[in-house]
Formats: sequence, C-alpha cells, structure tokens
Amino acid sequence: VVFAEGASSCCRLDELKQLAECDSTLGDLTFSKTHTVLVDVSAFNHGGRILPQPGNDMWNSSFVKMPCSPGSVITKTPSRKVLRWKLISKQLKGLAEKKSVHVHEVVDAIVSYNPTYKGQWSFDALLKFVEKIPSSENYFSTLFPKIAALALRLPDEVQKAIPLLRTGHAAAITLSQYQISCLLANAFFCTFPHRNASGPNAEYHNYPTINFSSLFGHWSDQKKEKLRAIMHYFKTVTDKKPQGLVTFERRCLQDADKPSWKRTETLQKLHVTASGSIENEGTGMLQVDFASSWIGGGVLSSGLVQEEILFLIYPELIVSRLFTEKLADNECLIVTGSQQFSFYSGFRENFEWAGPFEDTLERDKWRRLKRQILAIDALNFRHSREQYSLRNIERELNKAYCGFQRREVNEPDIATGKWGCGAFKGDKQLKALIQLMAAAKAQKGLAFFTFGDEELVRDLKQIYHLLVKQRITVDKLYRLLLDYCAVLKQCGSHVDLFGFIGNAIKPVRNQL
Ligand code: AR6
Repeated sequence: VVFAEGASSCCRLDELKQLAECDSTLGDLTFSKTHTVLVDVSAFNHGGRILPQPGNDMWNSSFVKMPCSPGSVITKTPSRKVLRWKLISKQLKGLAEKKSVHVHEVVDAIVSYNPTYKGQWSFDALLKFVEKIPSSENYFSTLFPKIAALALRLPDEVQKAIPLLRTGHAAAITLSQYQISCLLANAFFCTFPHRNASGPNAEYHNYPTINFSSLFGHWSDQKKEKLRAIMHYFKTVTDKKPQGLVTFERRCLQDADKPSWKRTETLQKLHVTASGSIENEGTGMLQVDFASSWIGGGVLSSGLVQEEILFLIYPELIVSRLFTEKLADNECLIVTGSQQFSFYSGFRENFEWAGPFEDTLERDKWRRLKRQILAIDALNFRHSREQYSLRNIERELNKAYCGFQRREVNEPDIATGKWGCGAFKGDKQLKALIQLMAAAKAQKGLAFFTFGDEELVRDLKQIYHLLVKQRITVDKLYRLLLDYCAVLKQCGSHVDLFGFIGNAIKPVRNQL
C-alpha cells in the first residue's frame, strides 16, 4: 500500500473491499465432520431445491434437544409419561386452526406445556404490546395462528439433529432461512426443552436463553419496539417463505495459531467517519457485532445497544442462541447470509422500529445473502484501568484477530467502530489501535464508524497518519502500548494514549 503524504492518509470507503467483489471459490454445497448441513445437499446442488436433510433425532449433550424429540417427556405419574410434543402440538394446532387468536390464548398455550413456570413468567409486555399498538398496525391476532402453524412444521422441516457449537470446537452449521423461521417460531412459543432453568447446575447454563419468555415480561417502551421488530419478522416470513441458506460458524484460535505481536506487519487501509453505521454503509464488508460472550446479549431481555439492535433487524441471528455455547477468549462466531428485515432509528432508550426493509443483497452460490457478521466479545471492564495490562491487551488483540483472520486470498475488508467502548467501558483510542493491529495481521482494511464521535474521527485520522508516515509496524505499536501501560501504572492520572504515542514517535523521526 502506498500512502500519499497528504493531510490524511485515510482512504475512501469505496476503496475497501466488499463481499460482492470477492471472487468466490465456493464449490458445491457439501457437509463434513465439522460442517453440518440441515438441507439435502444433492437436491440443492442438482436443481437448487431446498429440502430438509433426513436424519435421526439425538437426545444427548452434543445436540440441541428438540421440542419434538421422543426424548422430551412430561412425567405425569411415575408410571405415566407423556410426549411433550403431543401436548405442544395439541395447543398449537388449536391456535393454528383459527383465523384470529387472542393474545391470552397464546399465553395460556405457552403456560400449559411449561407448567413449572405458571405464575413465575410474566407476560405483561406481550399483553400490553398487543393492547397498545394502534389498530392500523395491529395484525397480531391473525399473525399468532400463522406463527403456531410455522412452529408445528418443525419435525418435518428439521429432521437432522442440530449439533451444539461447543467451546473449543471449530464447527459450522448451514440451514435454510425457512428452517430458522420454524425454530424461531418454536422459540416464540417457548417450546425448547431444558432451556428455561438458570443457575450453575442447569443443563444449558453455558448457553444463552432461547425461549422468548423473557421477551414477553417486564413491559417498557423498549420492549414495545423490540416486539414490533420481532412481530414484523414473523409477519414477513409467514407471508412469504424465505428462500436462502445461512451459515453459522464457530472459529477458535488455537494457541499454535496465535500470532506474534512482535513482527513487522505494516498497517492496512483505514477509512474513518462519524456518519453512517456498520450495518448500512458497512454492509457487504465483514460487519463487526459488538457481542456478548453469550451471543445476542440481552436481545431477549432488556439490553438494547449495538448487538441487540443487530439481532432485531436481522432476527435470524437469534437462532445462534440455540446452539452457540458461550464464547471463550479465543473464539468468535461468523454468520453468513442473514437477512435484514427492518429499519431502525435511535439507540438504547431511543431505539425505534422504523419499518420494513426490503433486502436486495446478492446471494452466493449457496444462496446465502452476501452479508457476513462477525461476533466478537470485548472484555467488560468494571474499572477502566484494568484494560491497560499486557494480558488484557493480548486478549483483545487475539479476539479481534480470531475474527479478522484471513482464510482465503479474496475476502472483504472489515466494518467496525467503537467495539467494547460502550456498555463494556473500553478506551476508544486503545480499542481502535488494537483493531488496526489485528487488521494489519490479517491484511485487511478497516472502515471505522465512530457513530457520531467527531473527536475520535479527528484524533484517529491524525494518529493513523503519523503511524503510517513514520512506518510504525505492529511490533513497534505493540511495544508502545506496553510502554504506555507502564507509564499509566507509575503516574496516578490518565494519559491520553494517542498523545503518548504521538510524542513517542515524533522524536524518532527527528533523529533520522
Ligand atoms: N455502528 C457503529 N457504531 C455503533 C453502532 C453501529 N450500528 N451502534 C453503536 N455504536 P456497545 P460494547 C457505537 O455498547 O461496549 C451488548 O449488550 C456507540 O458509540 O453496543 O462492546 C452486547 O450484548 C456505542 O457506544 O458495545 C454486550 O453485552 C459503541 O459503539 C455489550 O453490549 C459501543 O457499542 C457490548 O458492549
């Protein structure tokens, strides 16, 4: 990369690479030991039909326990066990056969096959939501039967067992958007067994929640907007069957593959802007999800920041919670092909669902939309000072690199921003440099959306310009970060990181 000696060595957004420009080396859709495909690959490869892959139910700790599994039973008396799916399907059929269903009937159905939670689960948010939404937008009574009908399709549509994407195991799952909608319809009706208990002894204690019970309780204006987005998703997929596939891939950075941060890679291209966002202007690049290690964070409860918003406008991401074990320090999740269903405006308490989104992205050979989302969880610092240590800096470098790492020659650049710097209280200057270093290792450019932070745009442009001009490589930057940590330890007060680095590298230039 040759950098101009102009006022800014940052590049334009259109100089960064999009997924659509990458020649794909994708062959036929195939499965392997580490890639489970839930659709019939031969029907897909010859004729492009999307049919469920036949398979057997698996009721054990390596697979998702399905609501329709013969293993899922309710013990009525010691000698009398009833298939739970029998109870569920009776309730859901009752709803699906009607033209119009009152929200109380939905609640009664959910409680009937989750009797342990009767009186414990609150449905006030769902009830108030249906009551409050004006009649012009209130299509819910006719939508509930359709969601019930979709949930009932599960045993036919998902026949092959879904493996759990477990800690320490790199593996992927490809399934159809229609299969995802059946699974999410079941999450809506809270049918997934063994997924409601919490606490360290619960079977799925290391997995995020998936049943929507927590979404339906504790009314707030934010809950209302979340439910508008979710209901719109179900309306869209029940009006018209979605037609593509989506892949969820867990990646692990093994110790042997951890890069040395003491090597001399040069920095890659950088575009910095205060306007725009990762999911709009960054679409088509590797879009970073500022994730929780519990994928999706508080999307089904009270959280409403970057990750939760992503999961609301791309609701297919929610299904990752069904099978993705908590991410470890050296892991990430990459989702290829999820569809955008909604517009939104605002952030946190000002978030609003802003209407239907028509997704017109191209699809790849596996009929996945050309959208890639990378979930990486930053460290959540209770005290800001914790982040200035060798251990924590390396953890963040390796986490970012795990996601950015290049697998093929032709891959898109990265769309990111203030990763870890909101709810997780990271230092935005430090996190920007960490992401630049990880991108340099991966040889990918960065589009950095500061989300309205003009000060960071100015400062990041300045320091980047200086770093490039002084030919500061990853190893030098790494040492400067360690020097900075040492200085912070010595002096009691905060020192501006970019200021420190600027001062440290200017004299080097003067000596030349
Ligand atoms: N595009 C670019 N920048 C954004 C966008 C966007 N769409 N949205 C927000 N920002 P935060 P974290 C900026 O707090 O600190 C969730 O609960 C905005 O300036 O979401 O990594 C997860 O589940 C914001 O302050 O990320 C985790 O539990 C900053 O990015 C936790 O939050 C950081 O966004 C992660 O927190």
